[in-house]
Amino acid sequence: MGLTYAEGMSKSKLLKKKNIMVMDTSEEKLLKLHQISHFDAYRDLEECVPEADVIFIAVKPHHAEKLFFTINPLVKPEQLLISIMAGVTIKSIKDLTGLTKIVRAMPNLPAKIGKGLTSYVASSDVTRIELLTIESLLDTTGKSVLVSDENFIDASTGISGSGPAYVFYFMQSMMKAALQMGFSENVSKILVSQTFTGAVELFNQNNLSPNSWMKKVASKGGTTQAALDSMEDNNVGELIKEAAFAAFDRAVEMGKEEQHV
Ligand SMILES: NC(=O)c1ccc[n+]([C@@H]2O[C@H](COP(=O)([O-])OP(=O)(O)OC[C@H]3O[C@@H](n4cnc5c(N)ncnc54)[C@H](OP(=O)(O)O)[C@@H]3O)[C@@H](O)[C@H]2O)c1
Repeated sequence: MGLTYAEGMSKSKLLKKKNIMVMDTSEEKLLKLHQISHFDAYRDLEECVPEADVIFIAVKPHHAEKLFFTINPLVKPEQLLISIMAGVTIKSIKDLTGLTKIVRAMPNLPAKIGKGLTSYVASSDVTRIELLTIESLLDTTGKSVLVSDENFIDASTGISGSGPAYVFYFMQSMMKAALQMGFSENVSKILVSQTFTGAVELFNQNNLSPNSWMKKVASKGGTTQAALDSMEDNNVGELIKEAAFAAFDRAVEMGKEEQHV
């Protein structure tokens, strides 16, 4: 994910490659990184953290405490830190790094192809002008949404953060049905993926609700209505809502666990 953002920022021409320093602990990864992406790659935080205006953290949450412990003596108060780690709160980042300008962001996987959605929240020390810079940086991987408090970061984990997996789940079920109807794997894939692409593009190009679109596809007593009735009878809509809340609850829980490390 860290590399995804570095590449997004560099491709958008918002930042020159020479102004992006990429850091990882693995020598092997750094070598690959340098060869493939031509970023200045570093193994030691001491070499790059003091030089940075914005520090972008994309390690797994369980590496956070050790990393922040190392960063603490290297940072300056004017530096801004953006974290995309799930469940790591602004308070814990402030306490561990000593920094006060913190942005907590929640991306999703389509960021890898420039179609991501990043929700983010900033601590009160981040200025309006800095917020504009942050928005431009995050938008290099898709779109971003500024939310008013951290609870919405956990909530957006349940919708956009984990959401791509719900879509893949739905796609998988439709592909299984297509296979069972006798289509080849290849045709099943095309039938399903083009259906998703087409439906999402229709939705994006018009100002209609999902319900209005459903009504446009379904006619009374017809095939689509039979499928929609089956989903309603089986409570599928309610179950999808429950699943999103399960992810939201887990994000809140992870935040609490993180504060105990
Ligand atoms: N992937 C997603 O869709 C997604 C969505 C939302 C949020 N996030 C968040 O994004 C973060 C990164 O996820 P990811 O999937 O990109 O993880 P990842 O592939 O494991 O990348 C993390 C990288 O950080 C390196 N690292 C570990 N400790 C380090 C340290 N002290 N200093 C510098 N680098 C260090 C890791 O190296 P080693 O492998 O050698 O340890 C690894 O290369 C996570 O906190 C996750 O919660 C990810």
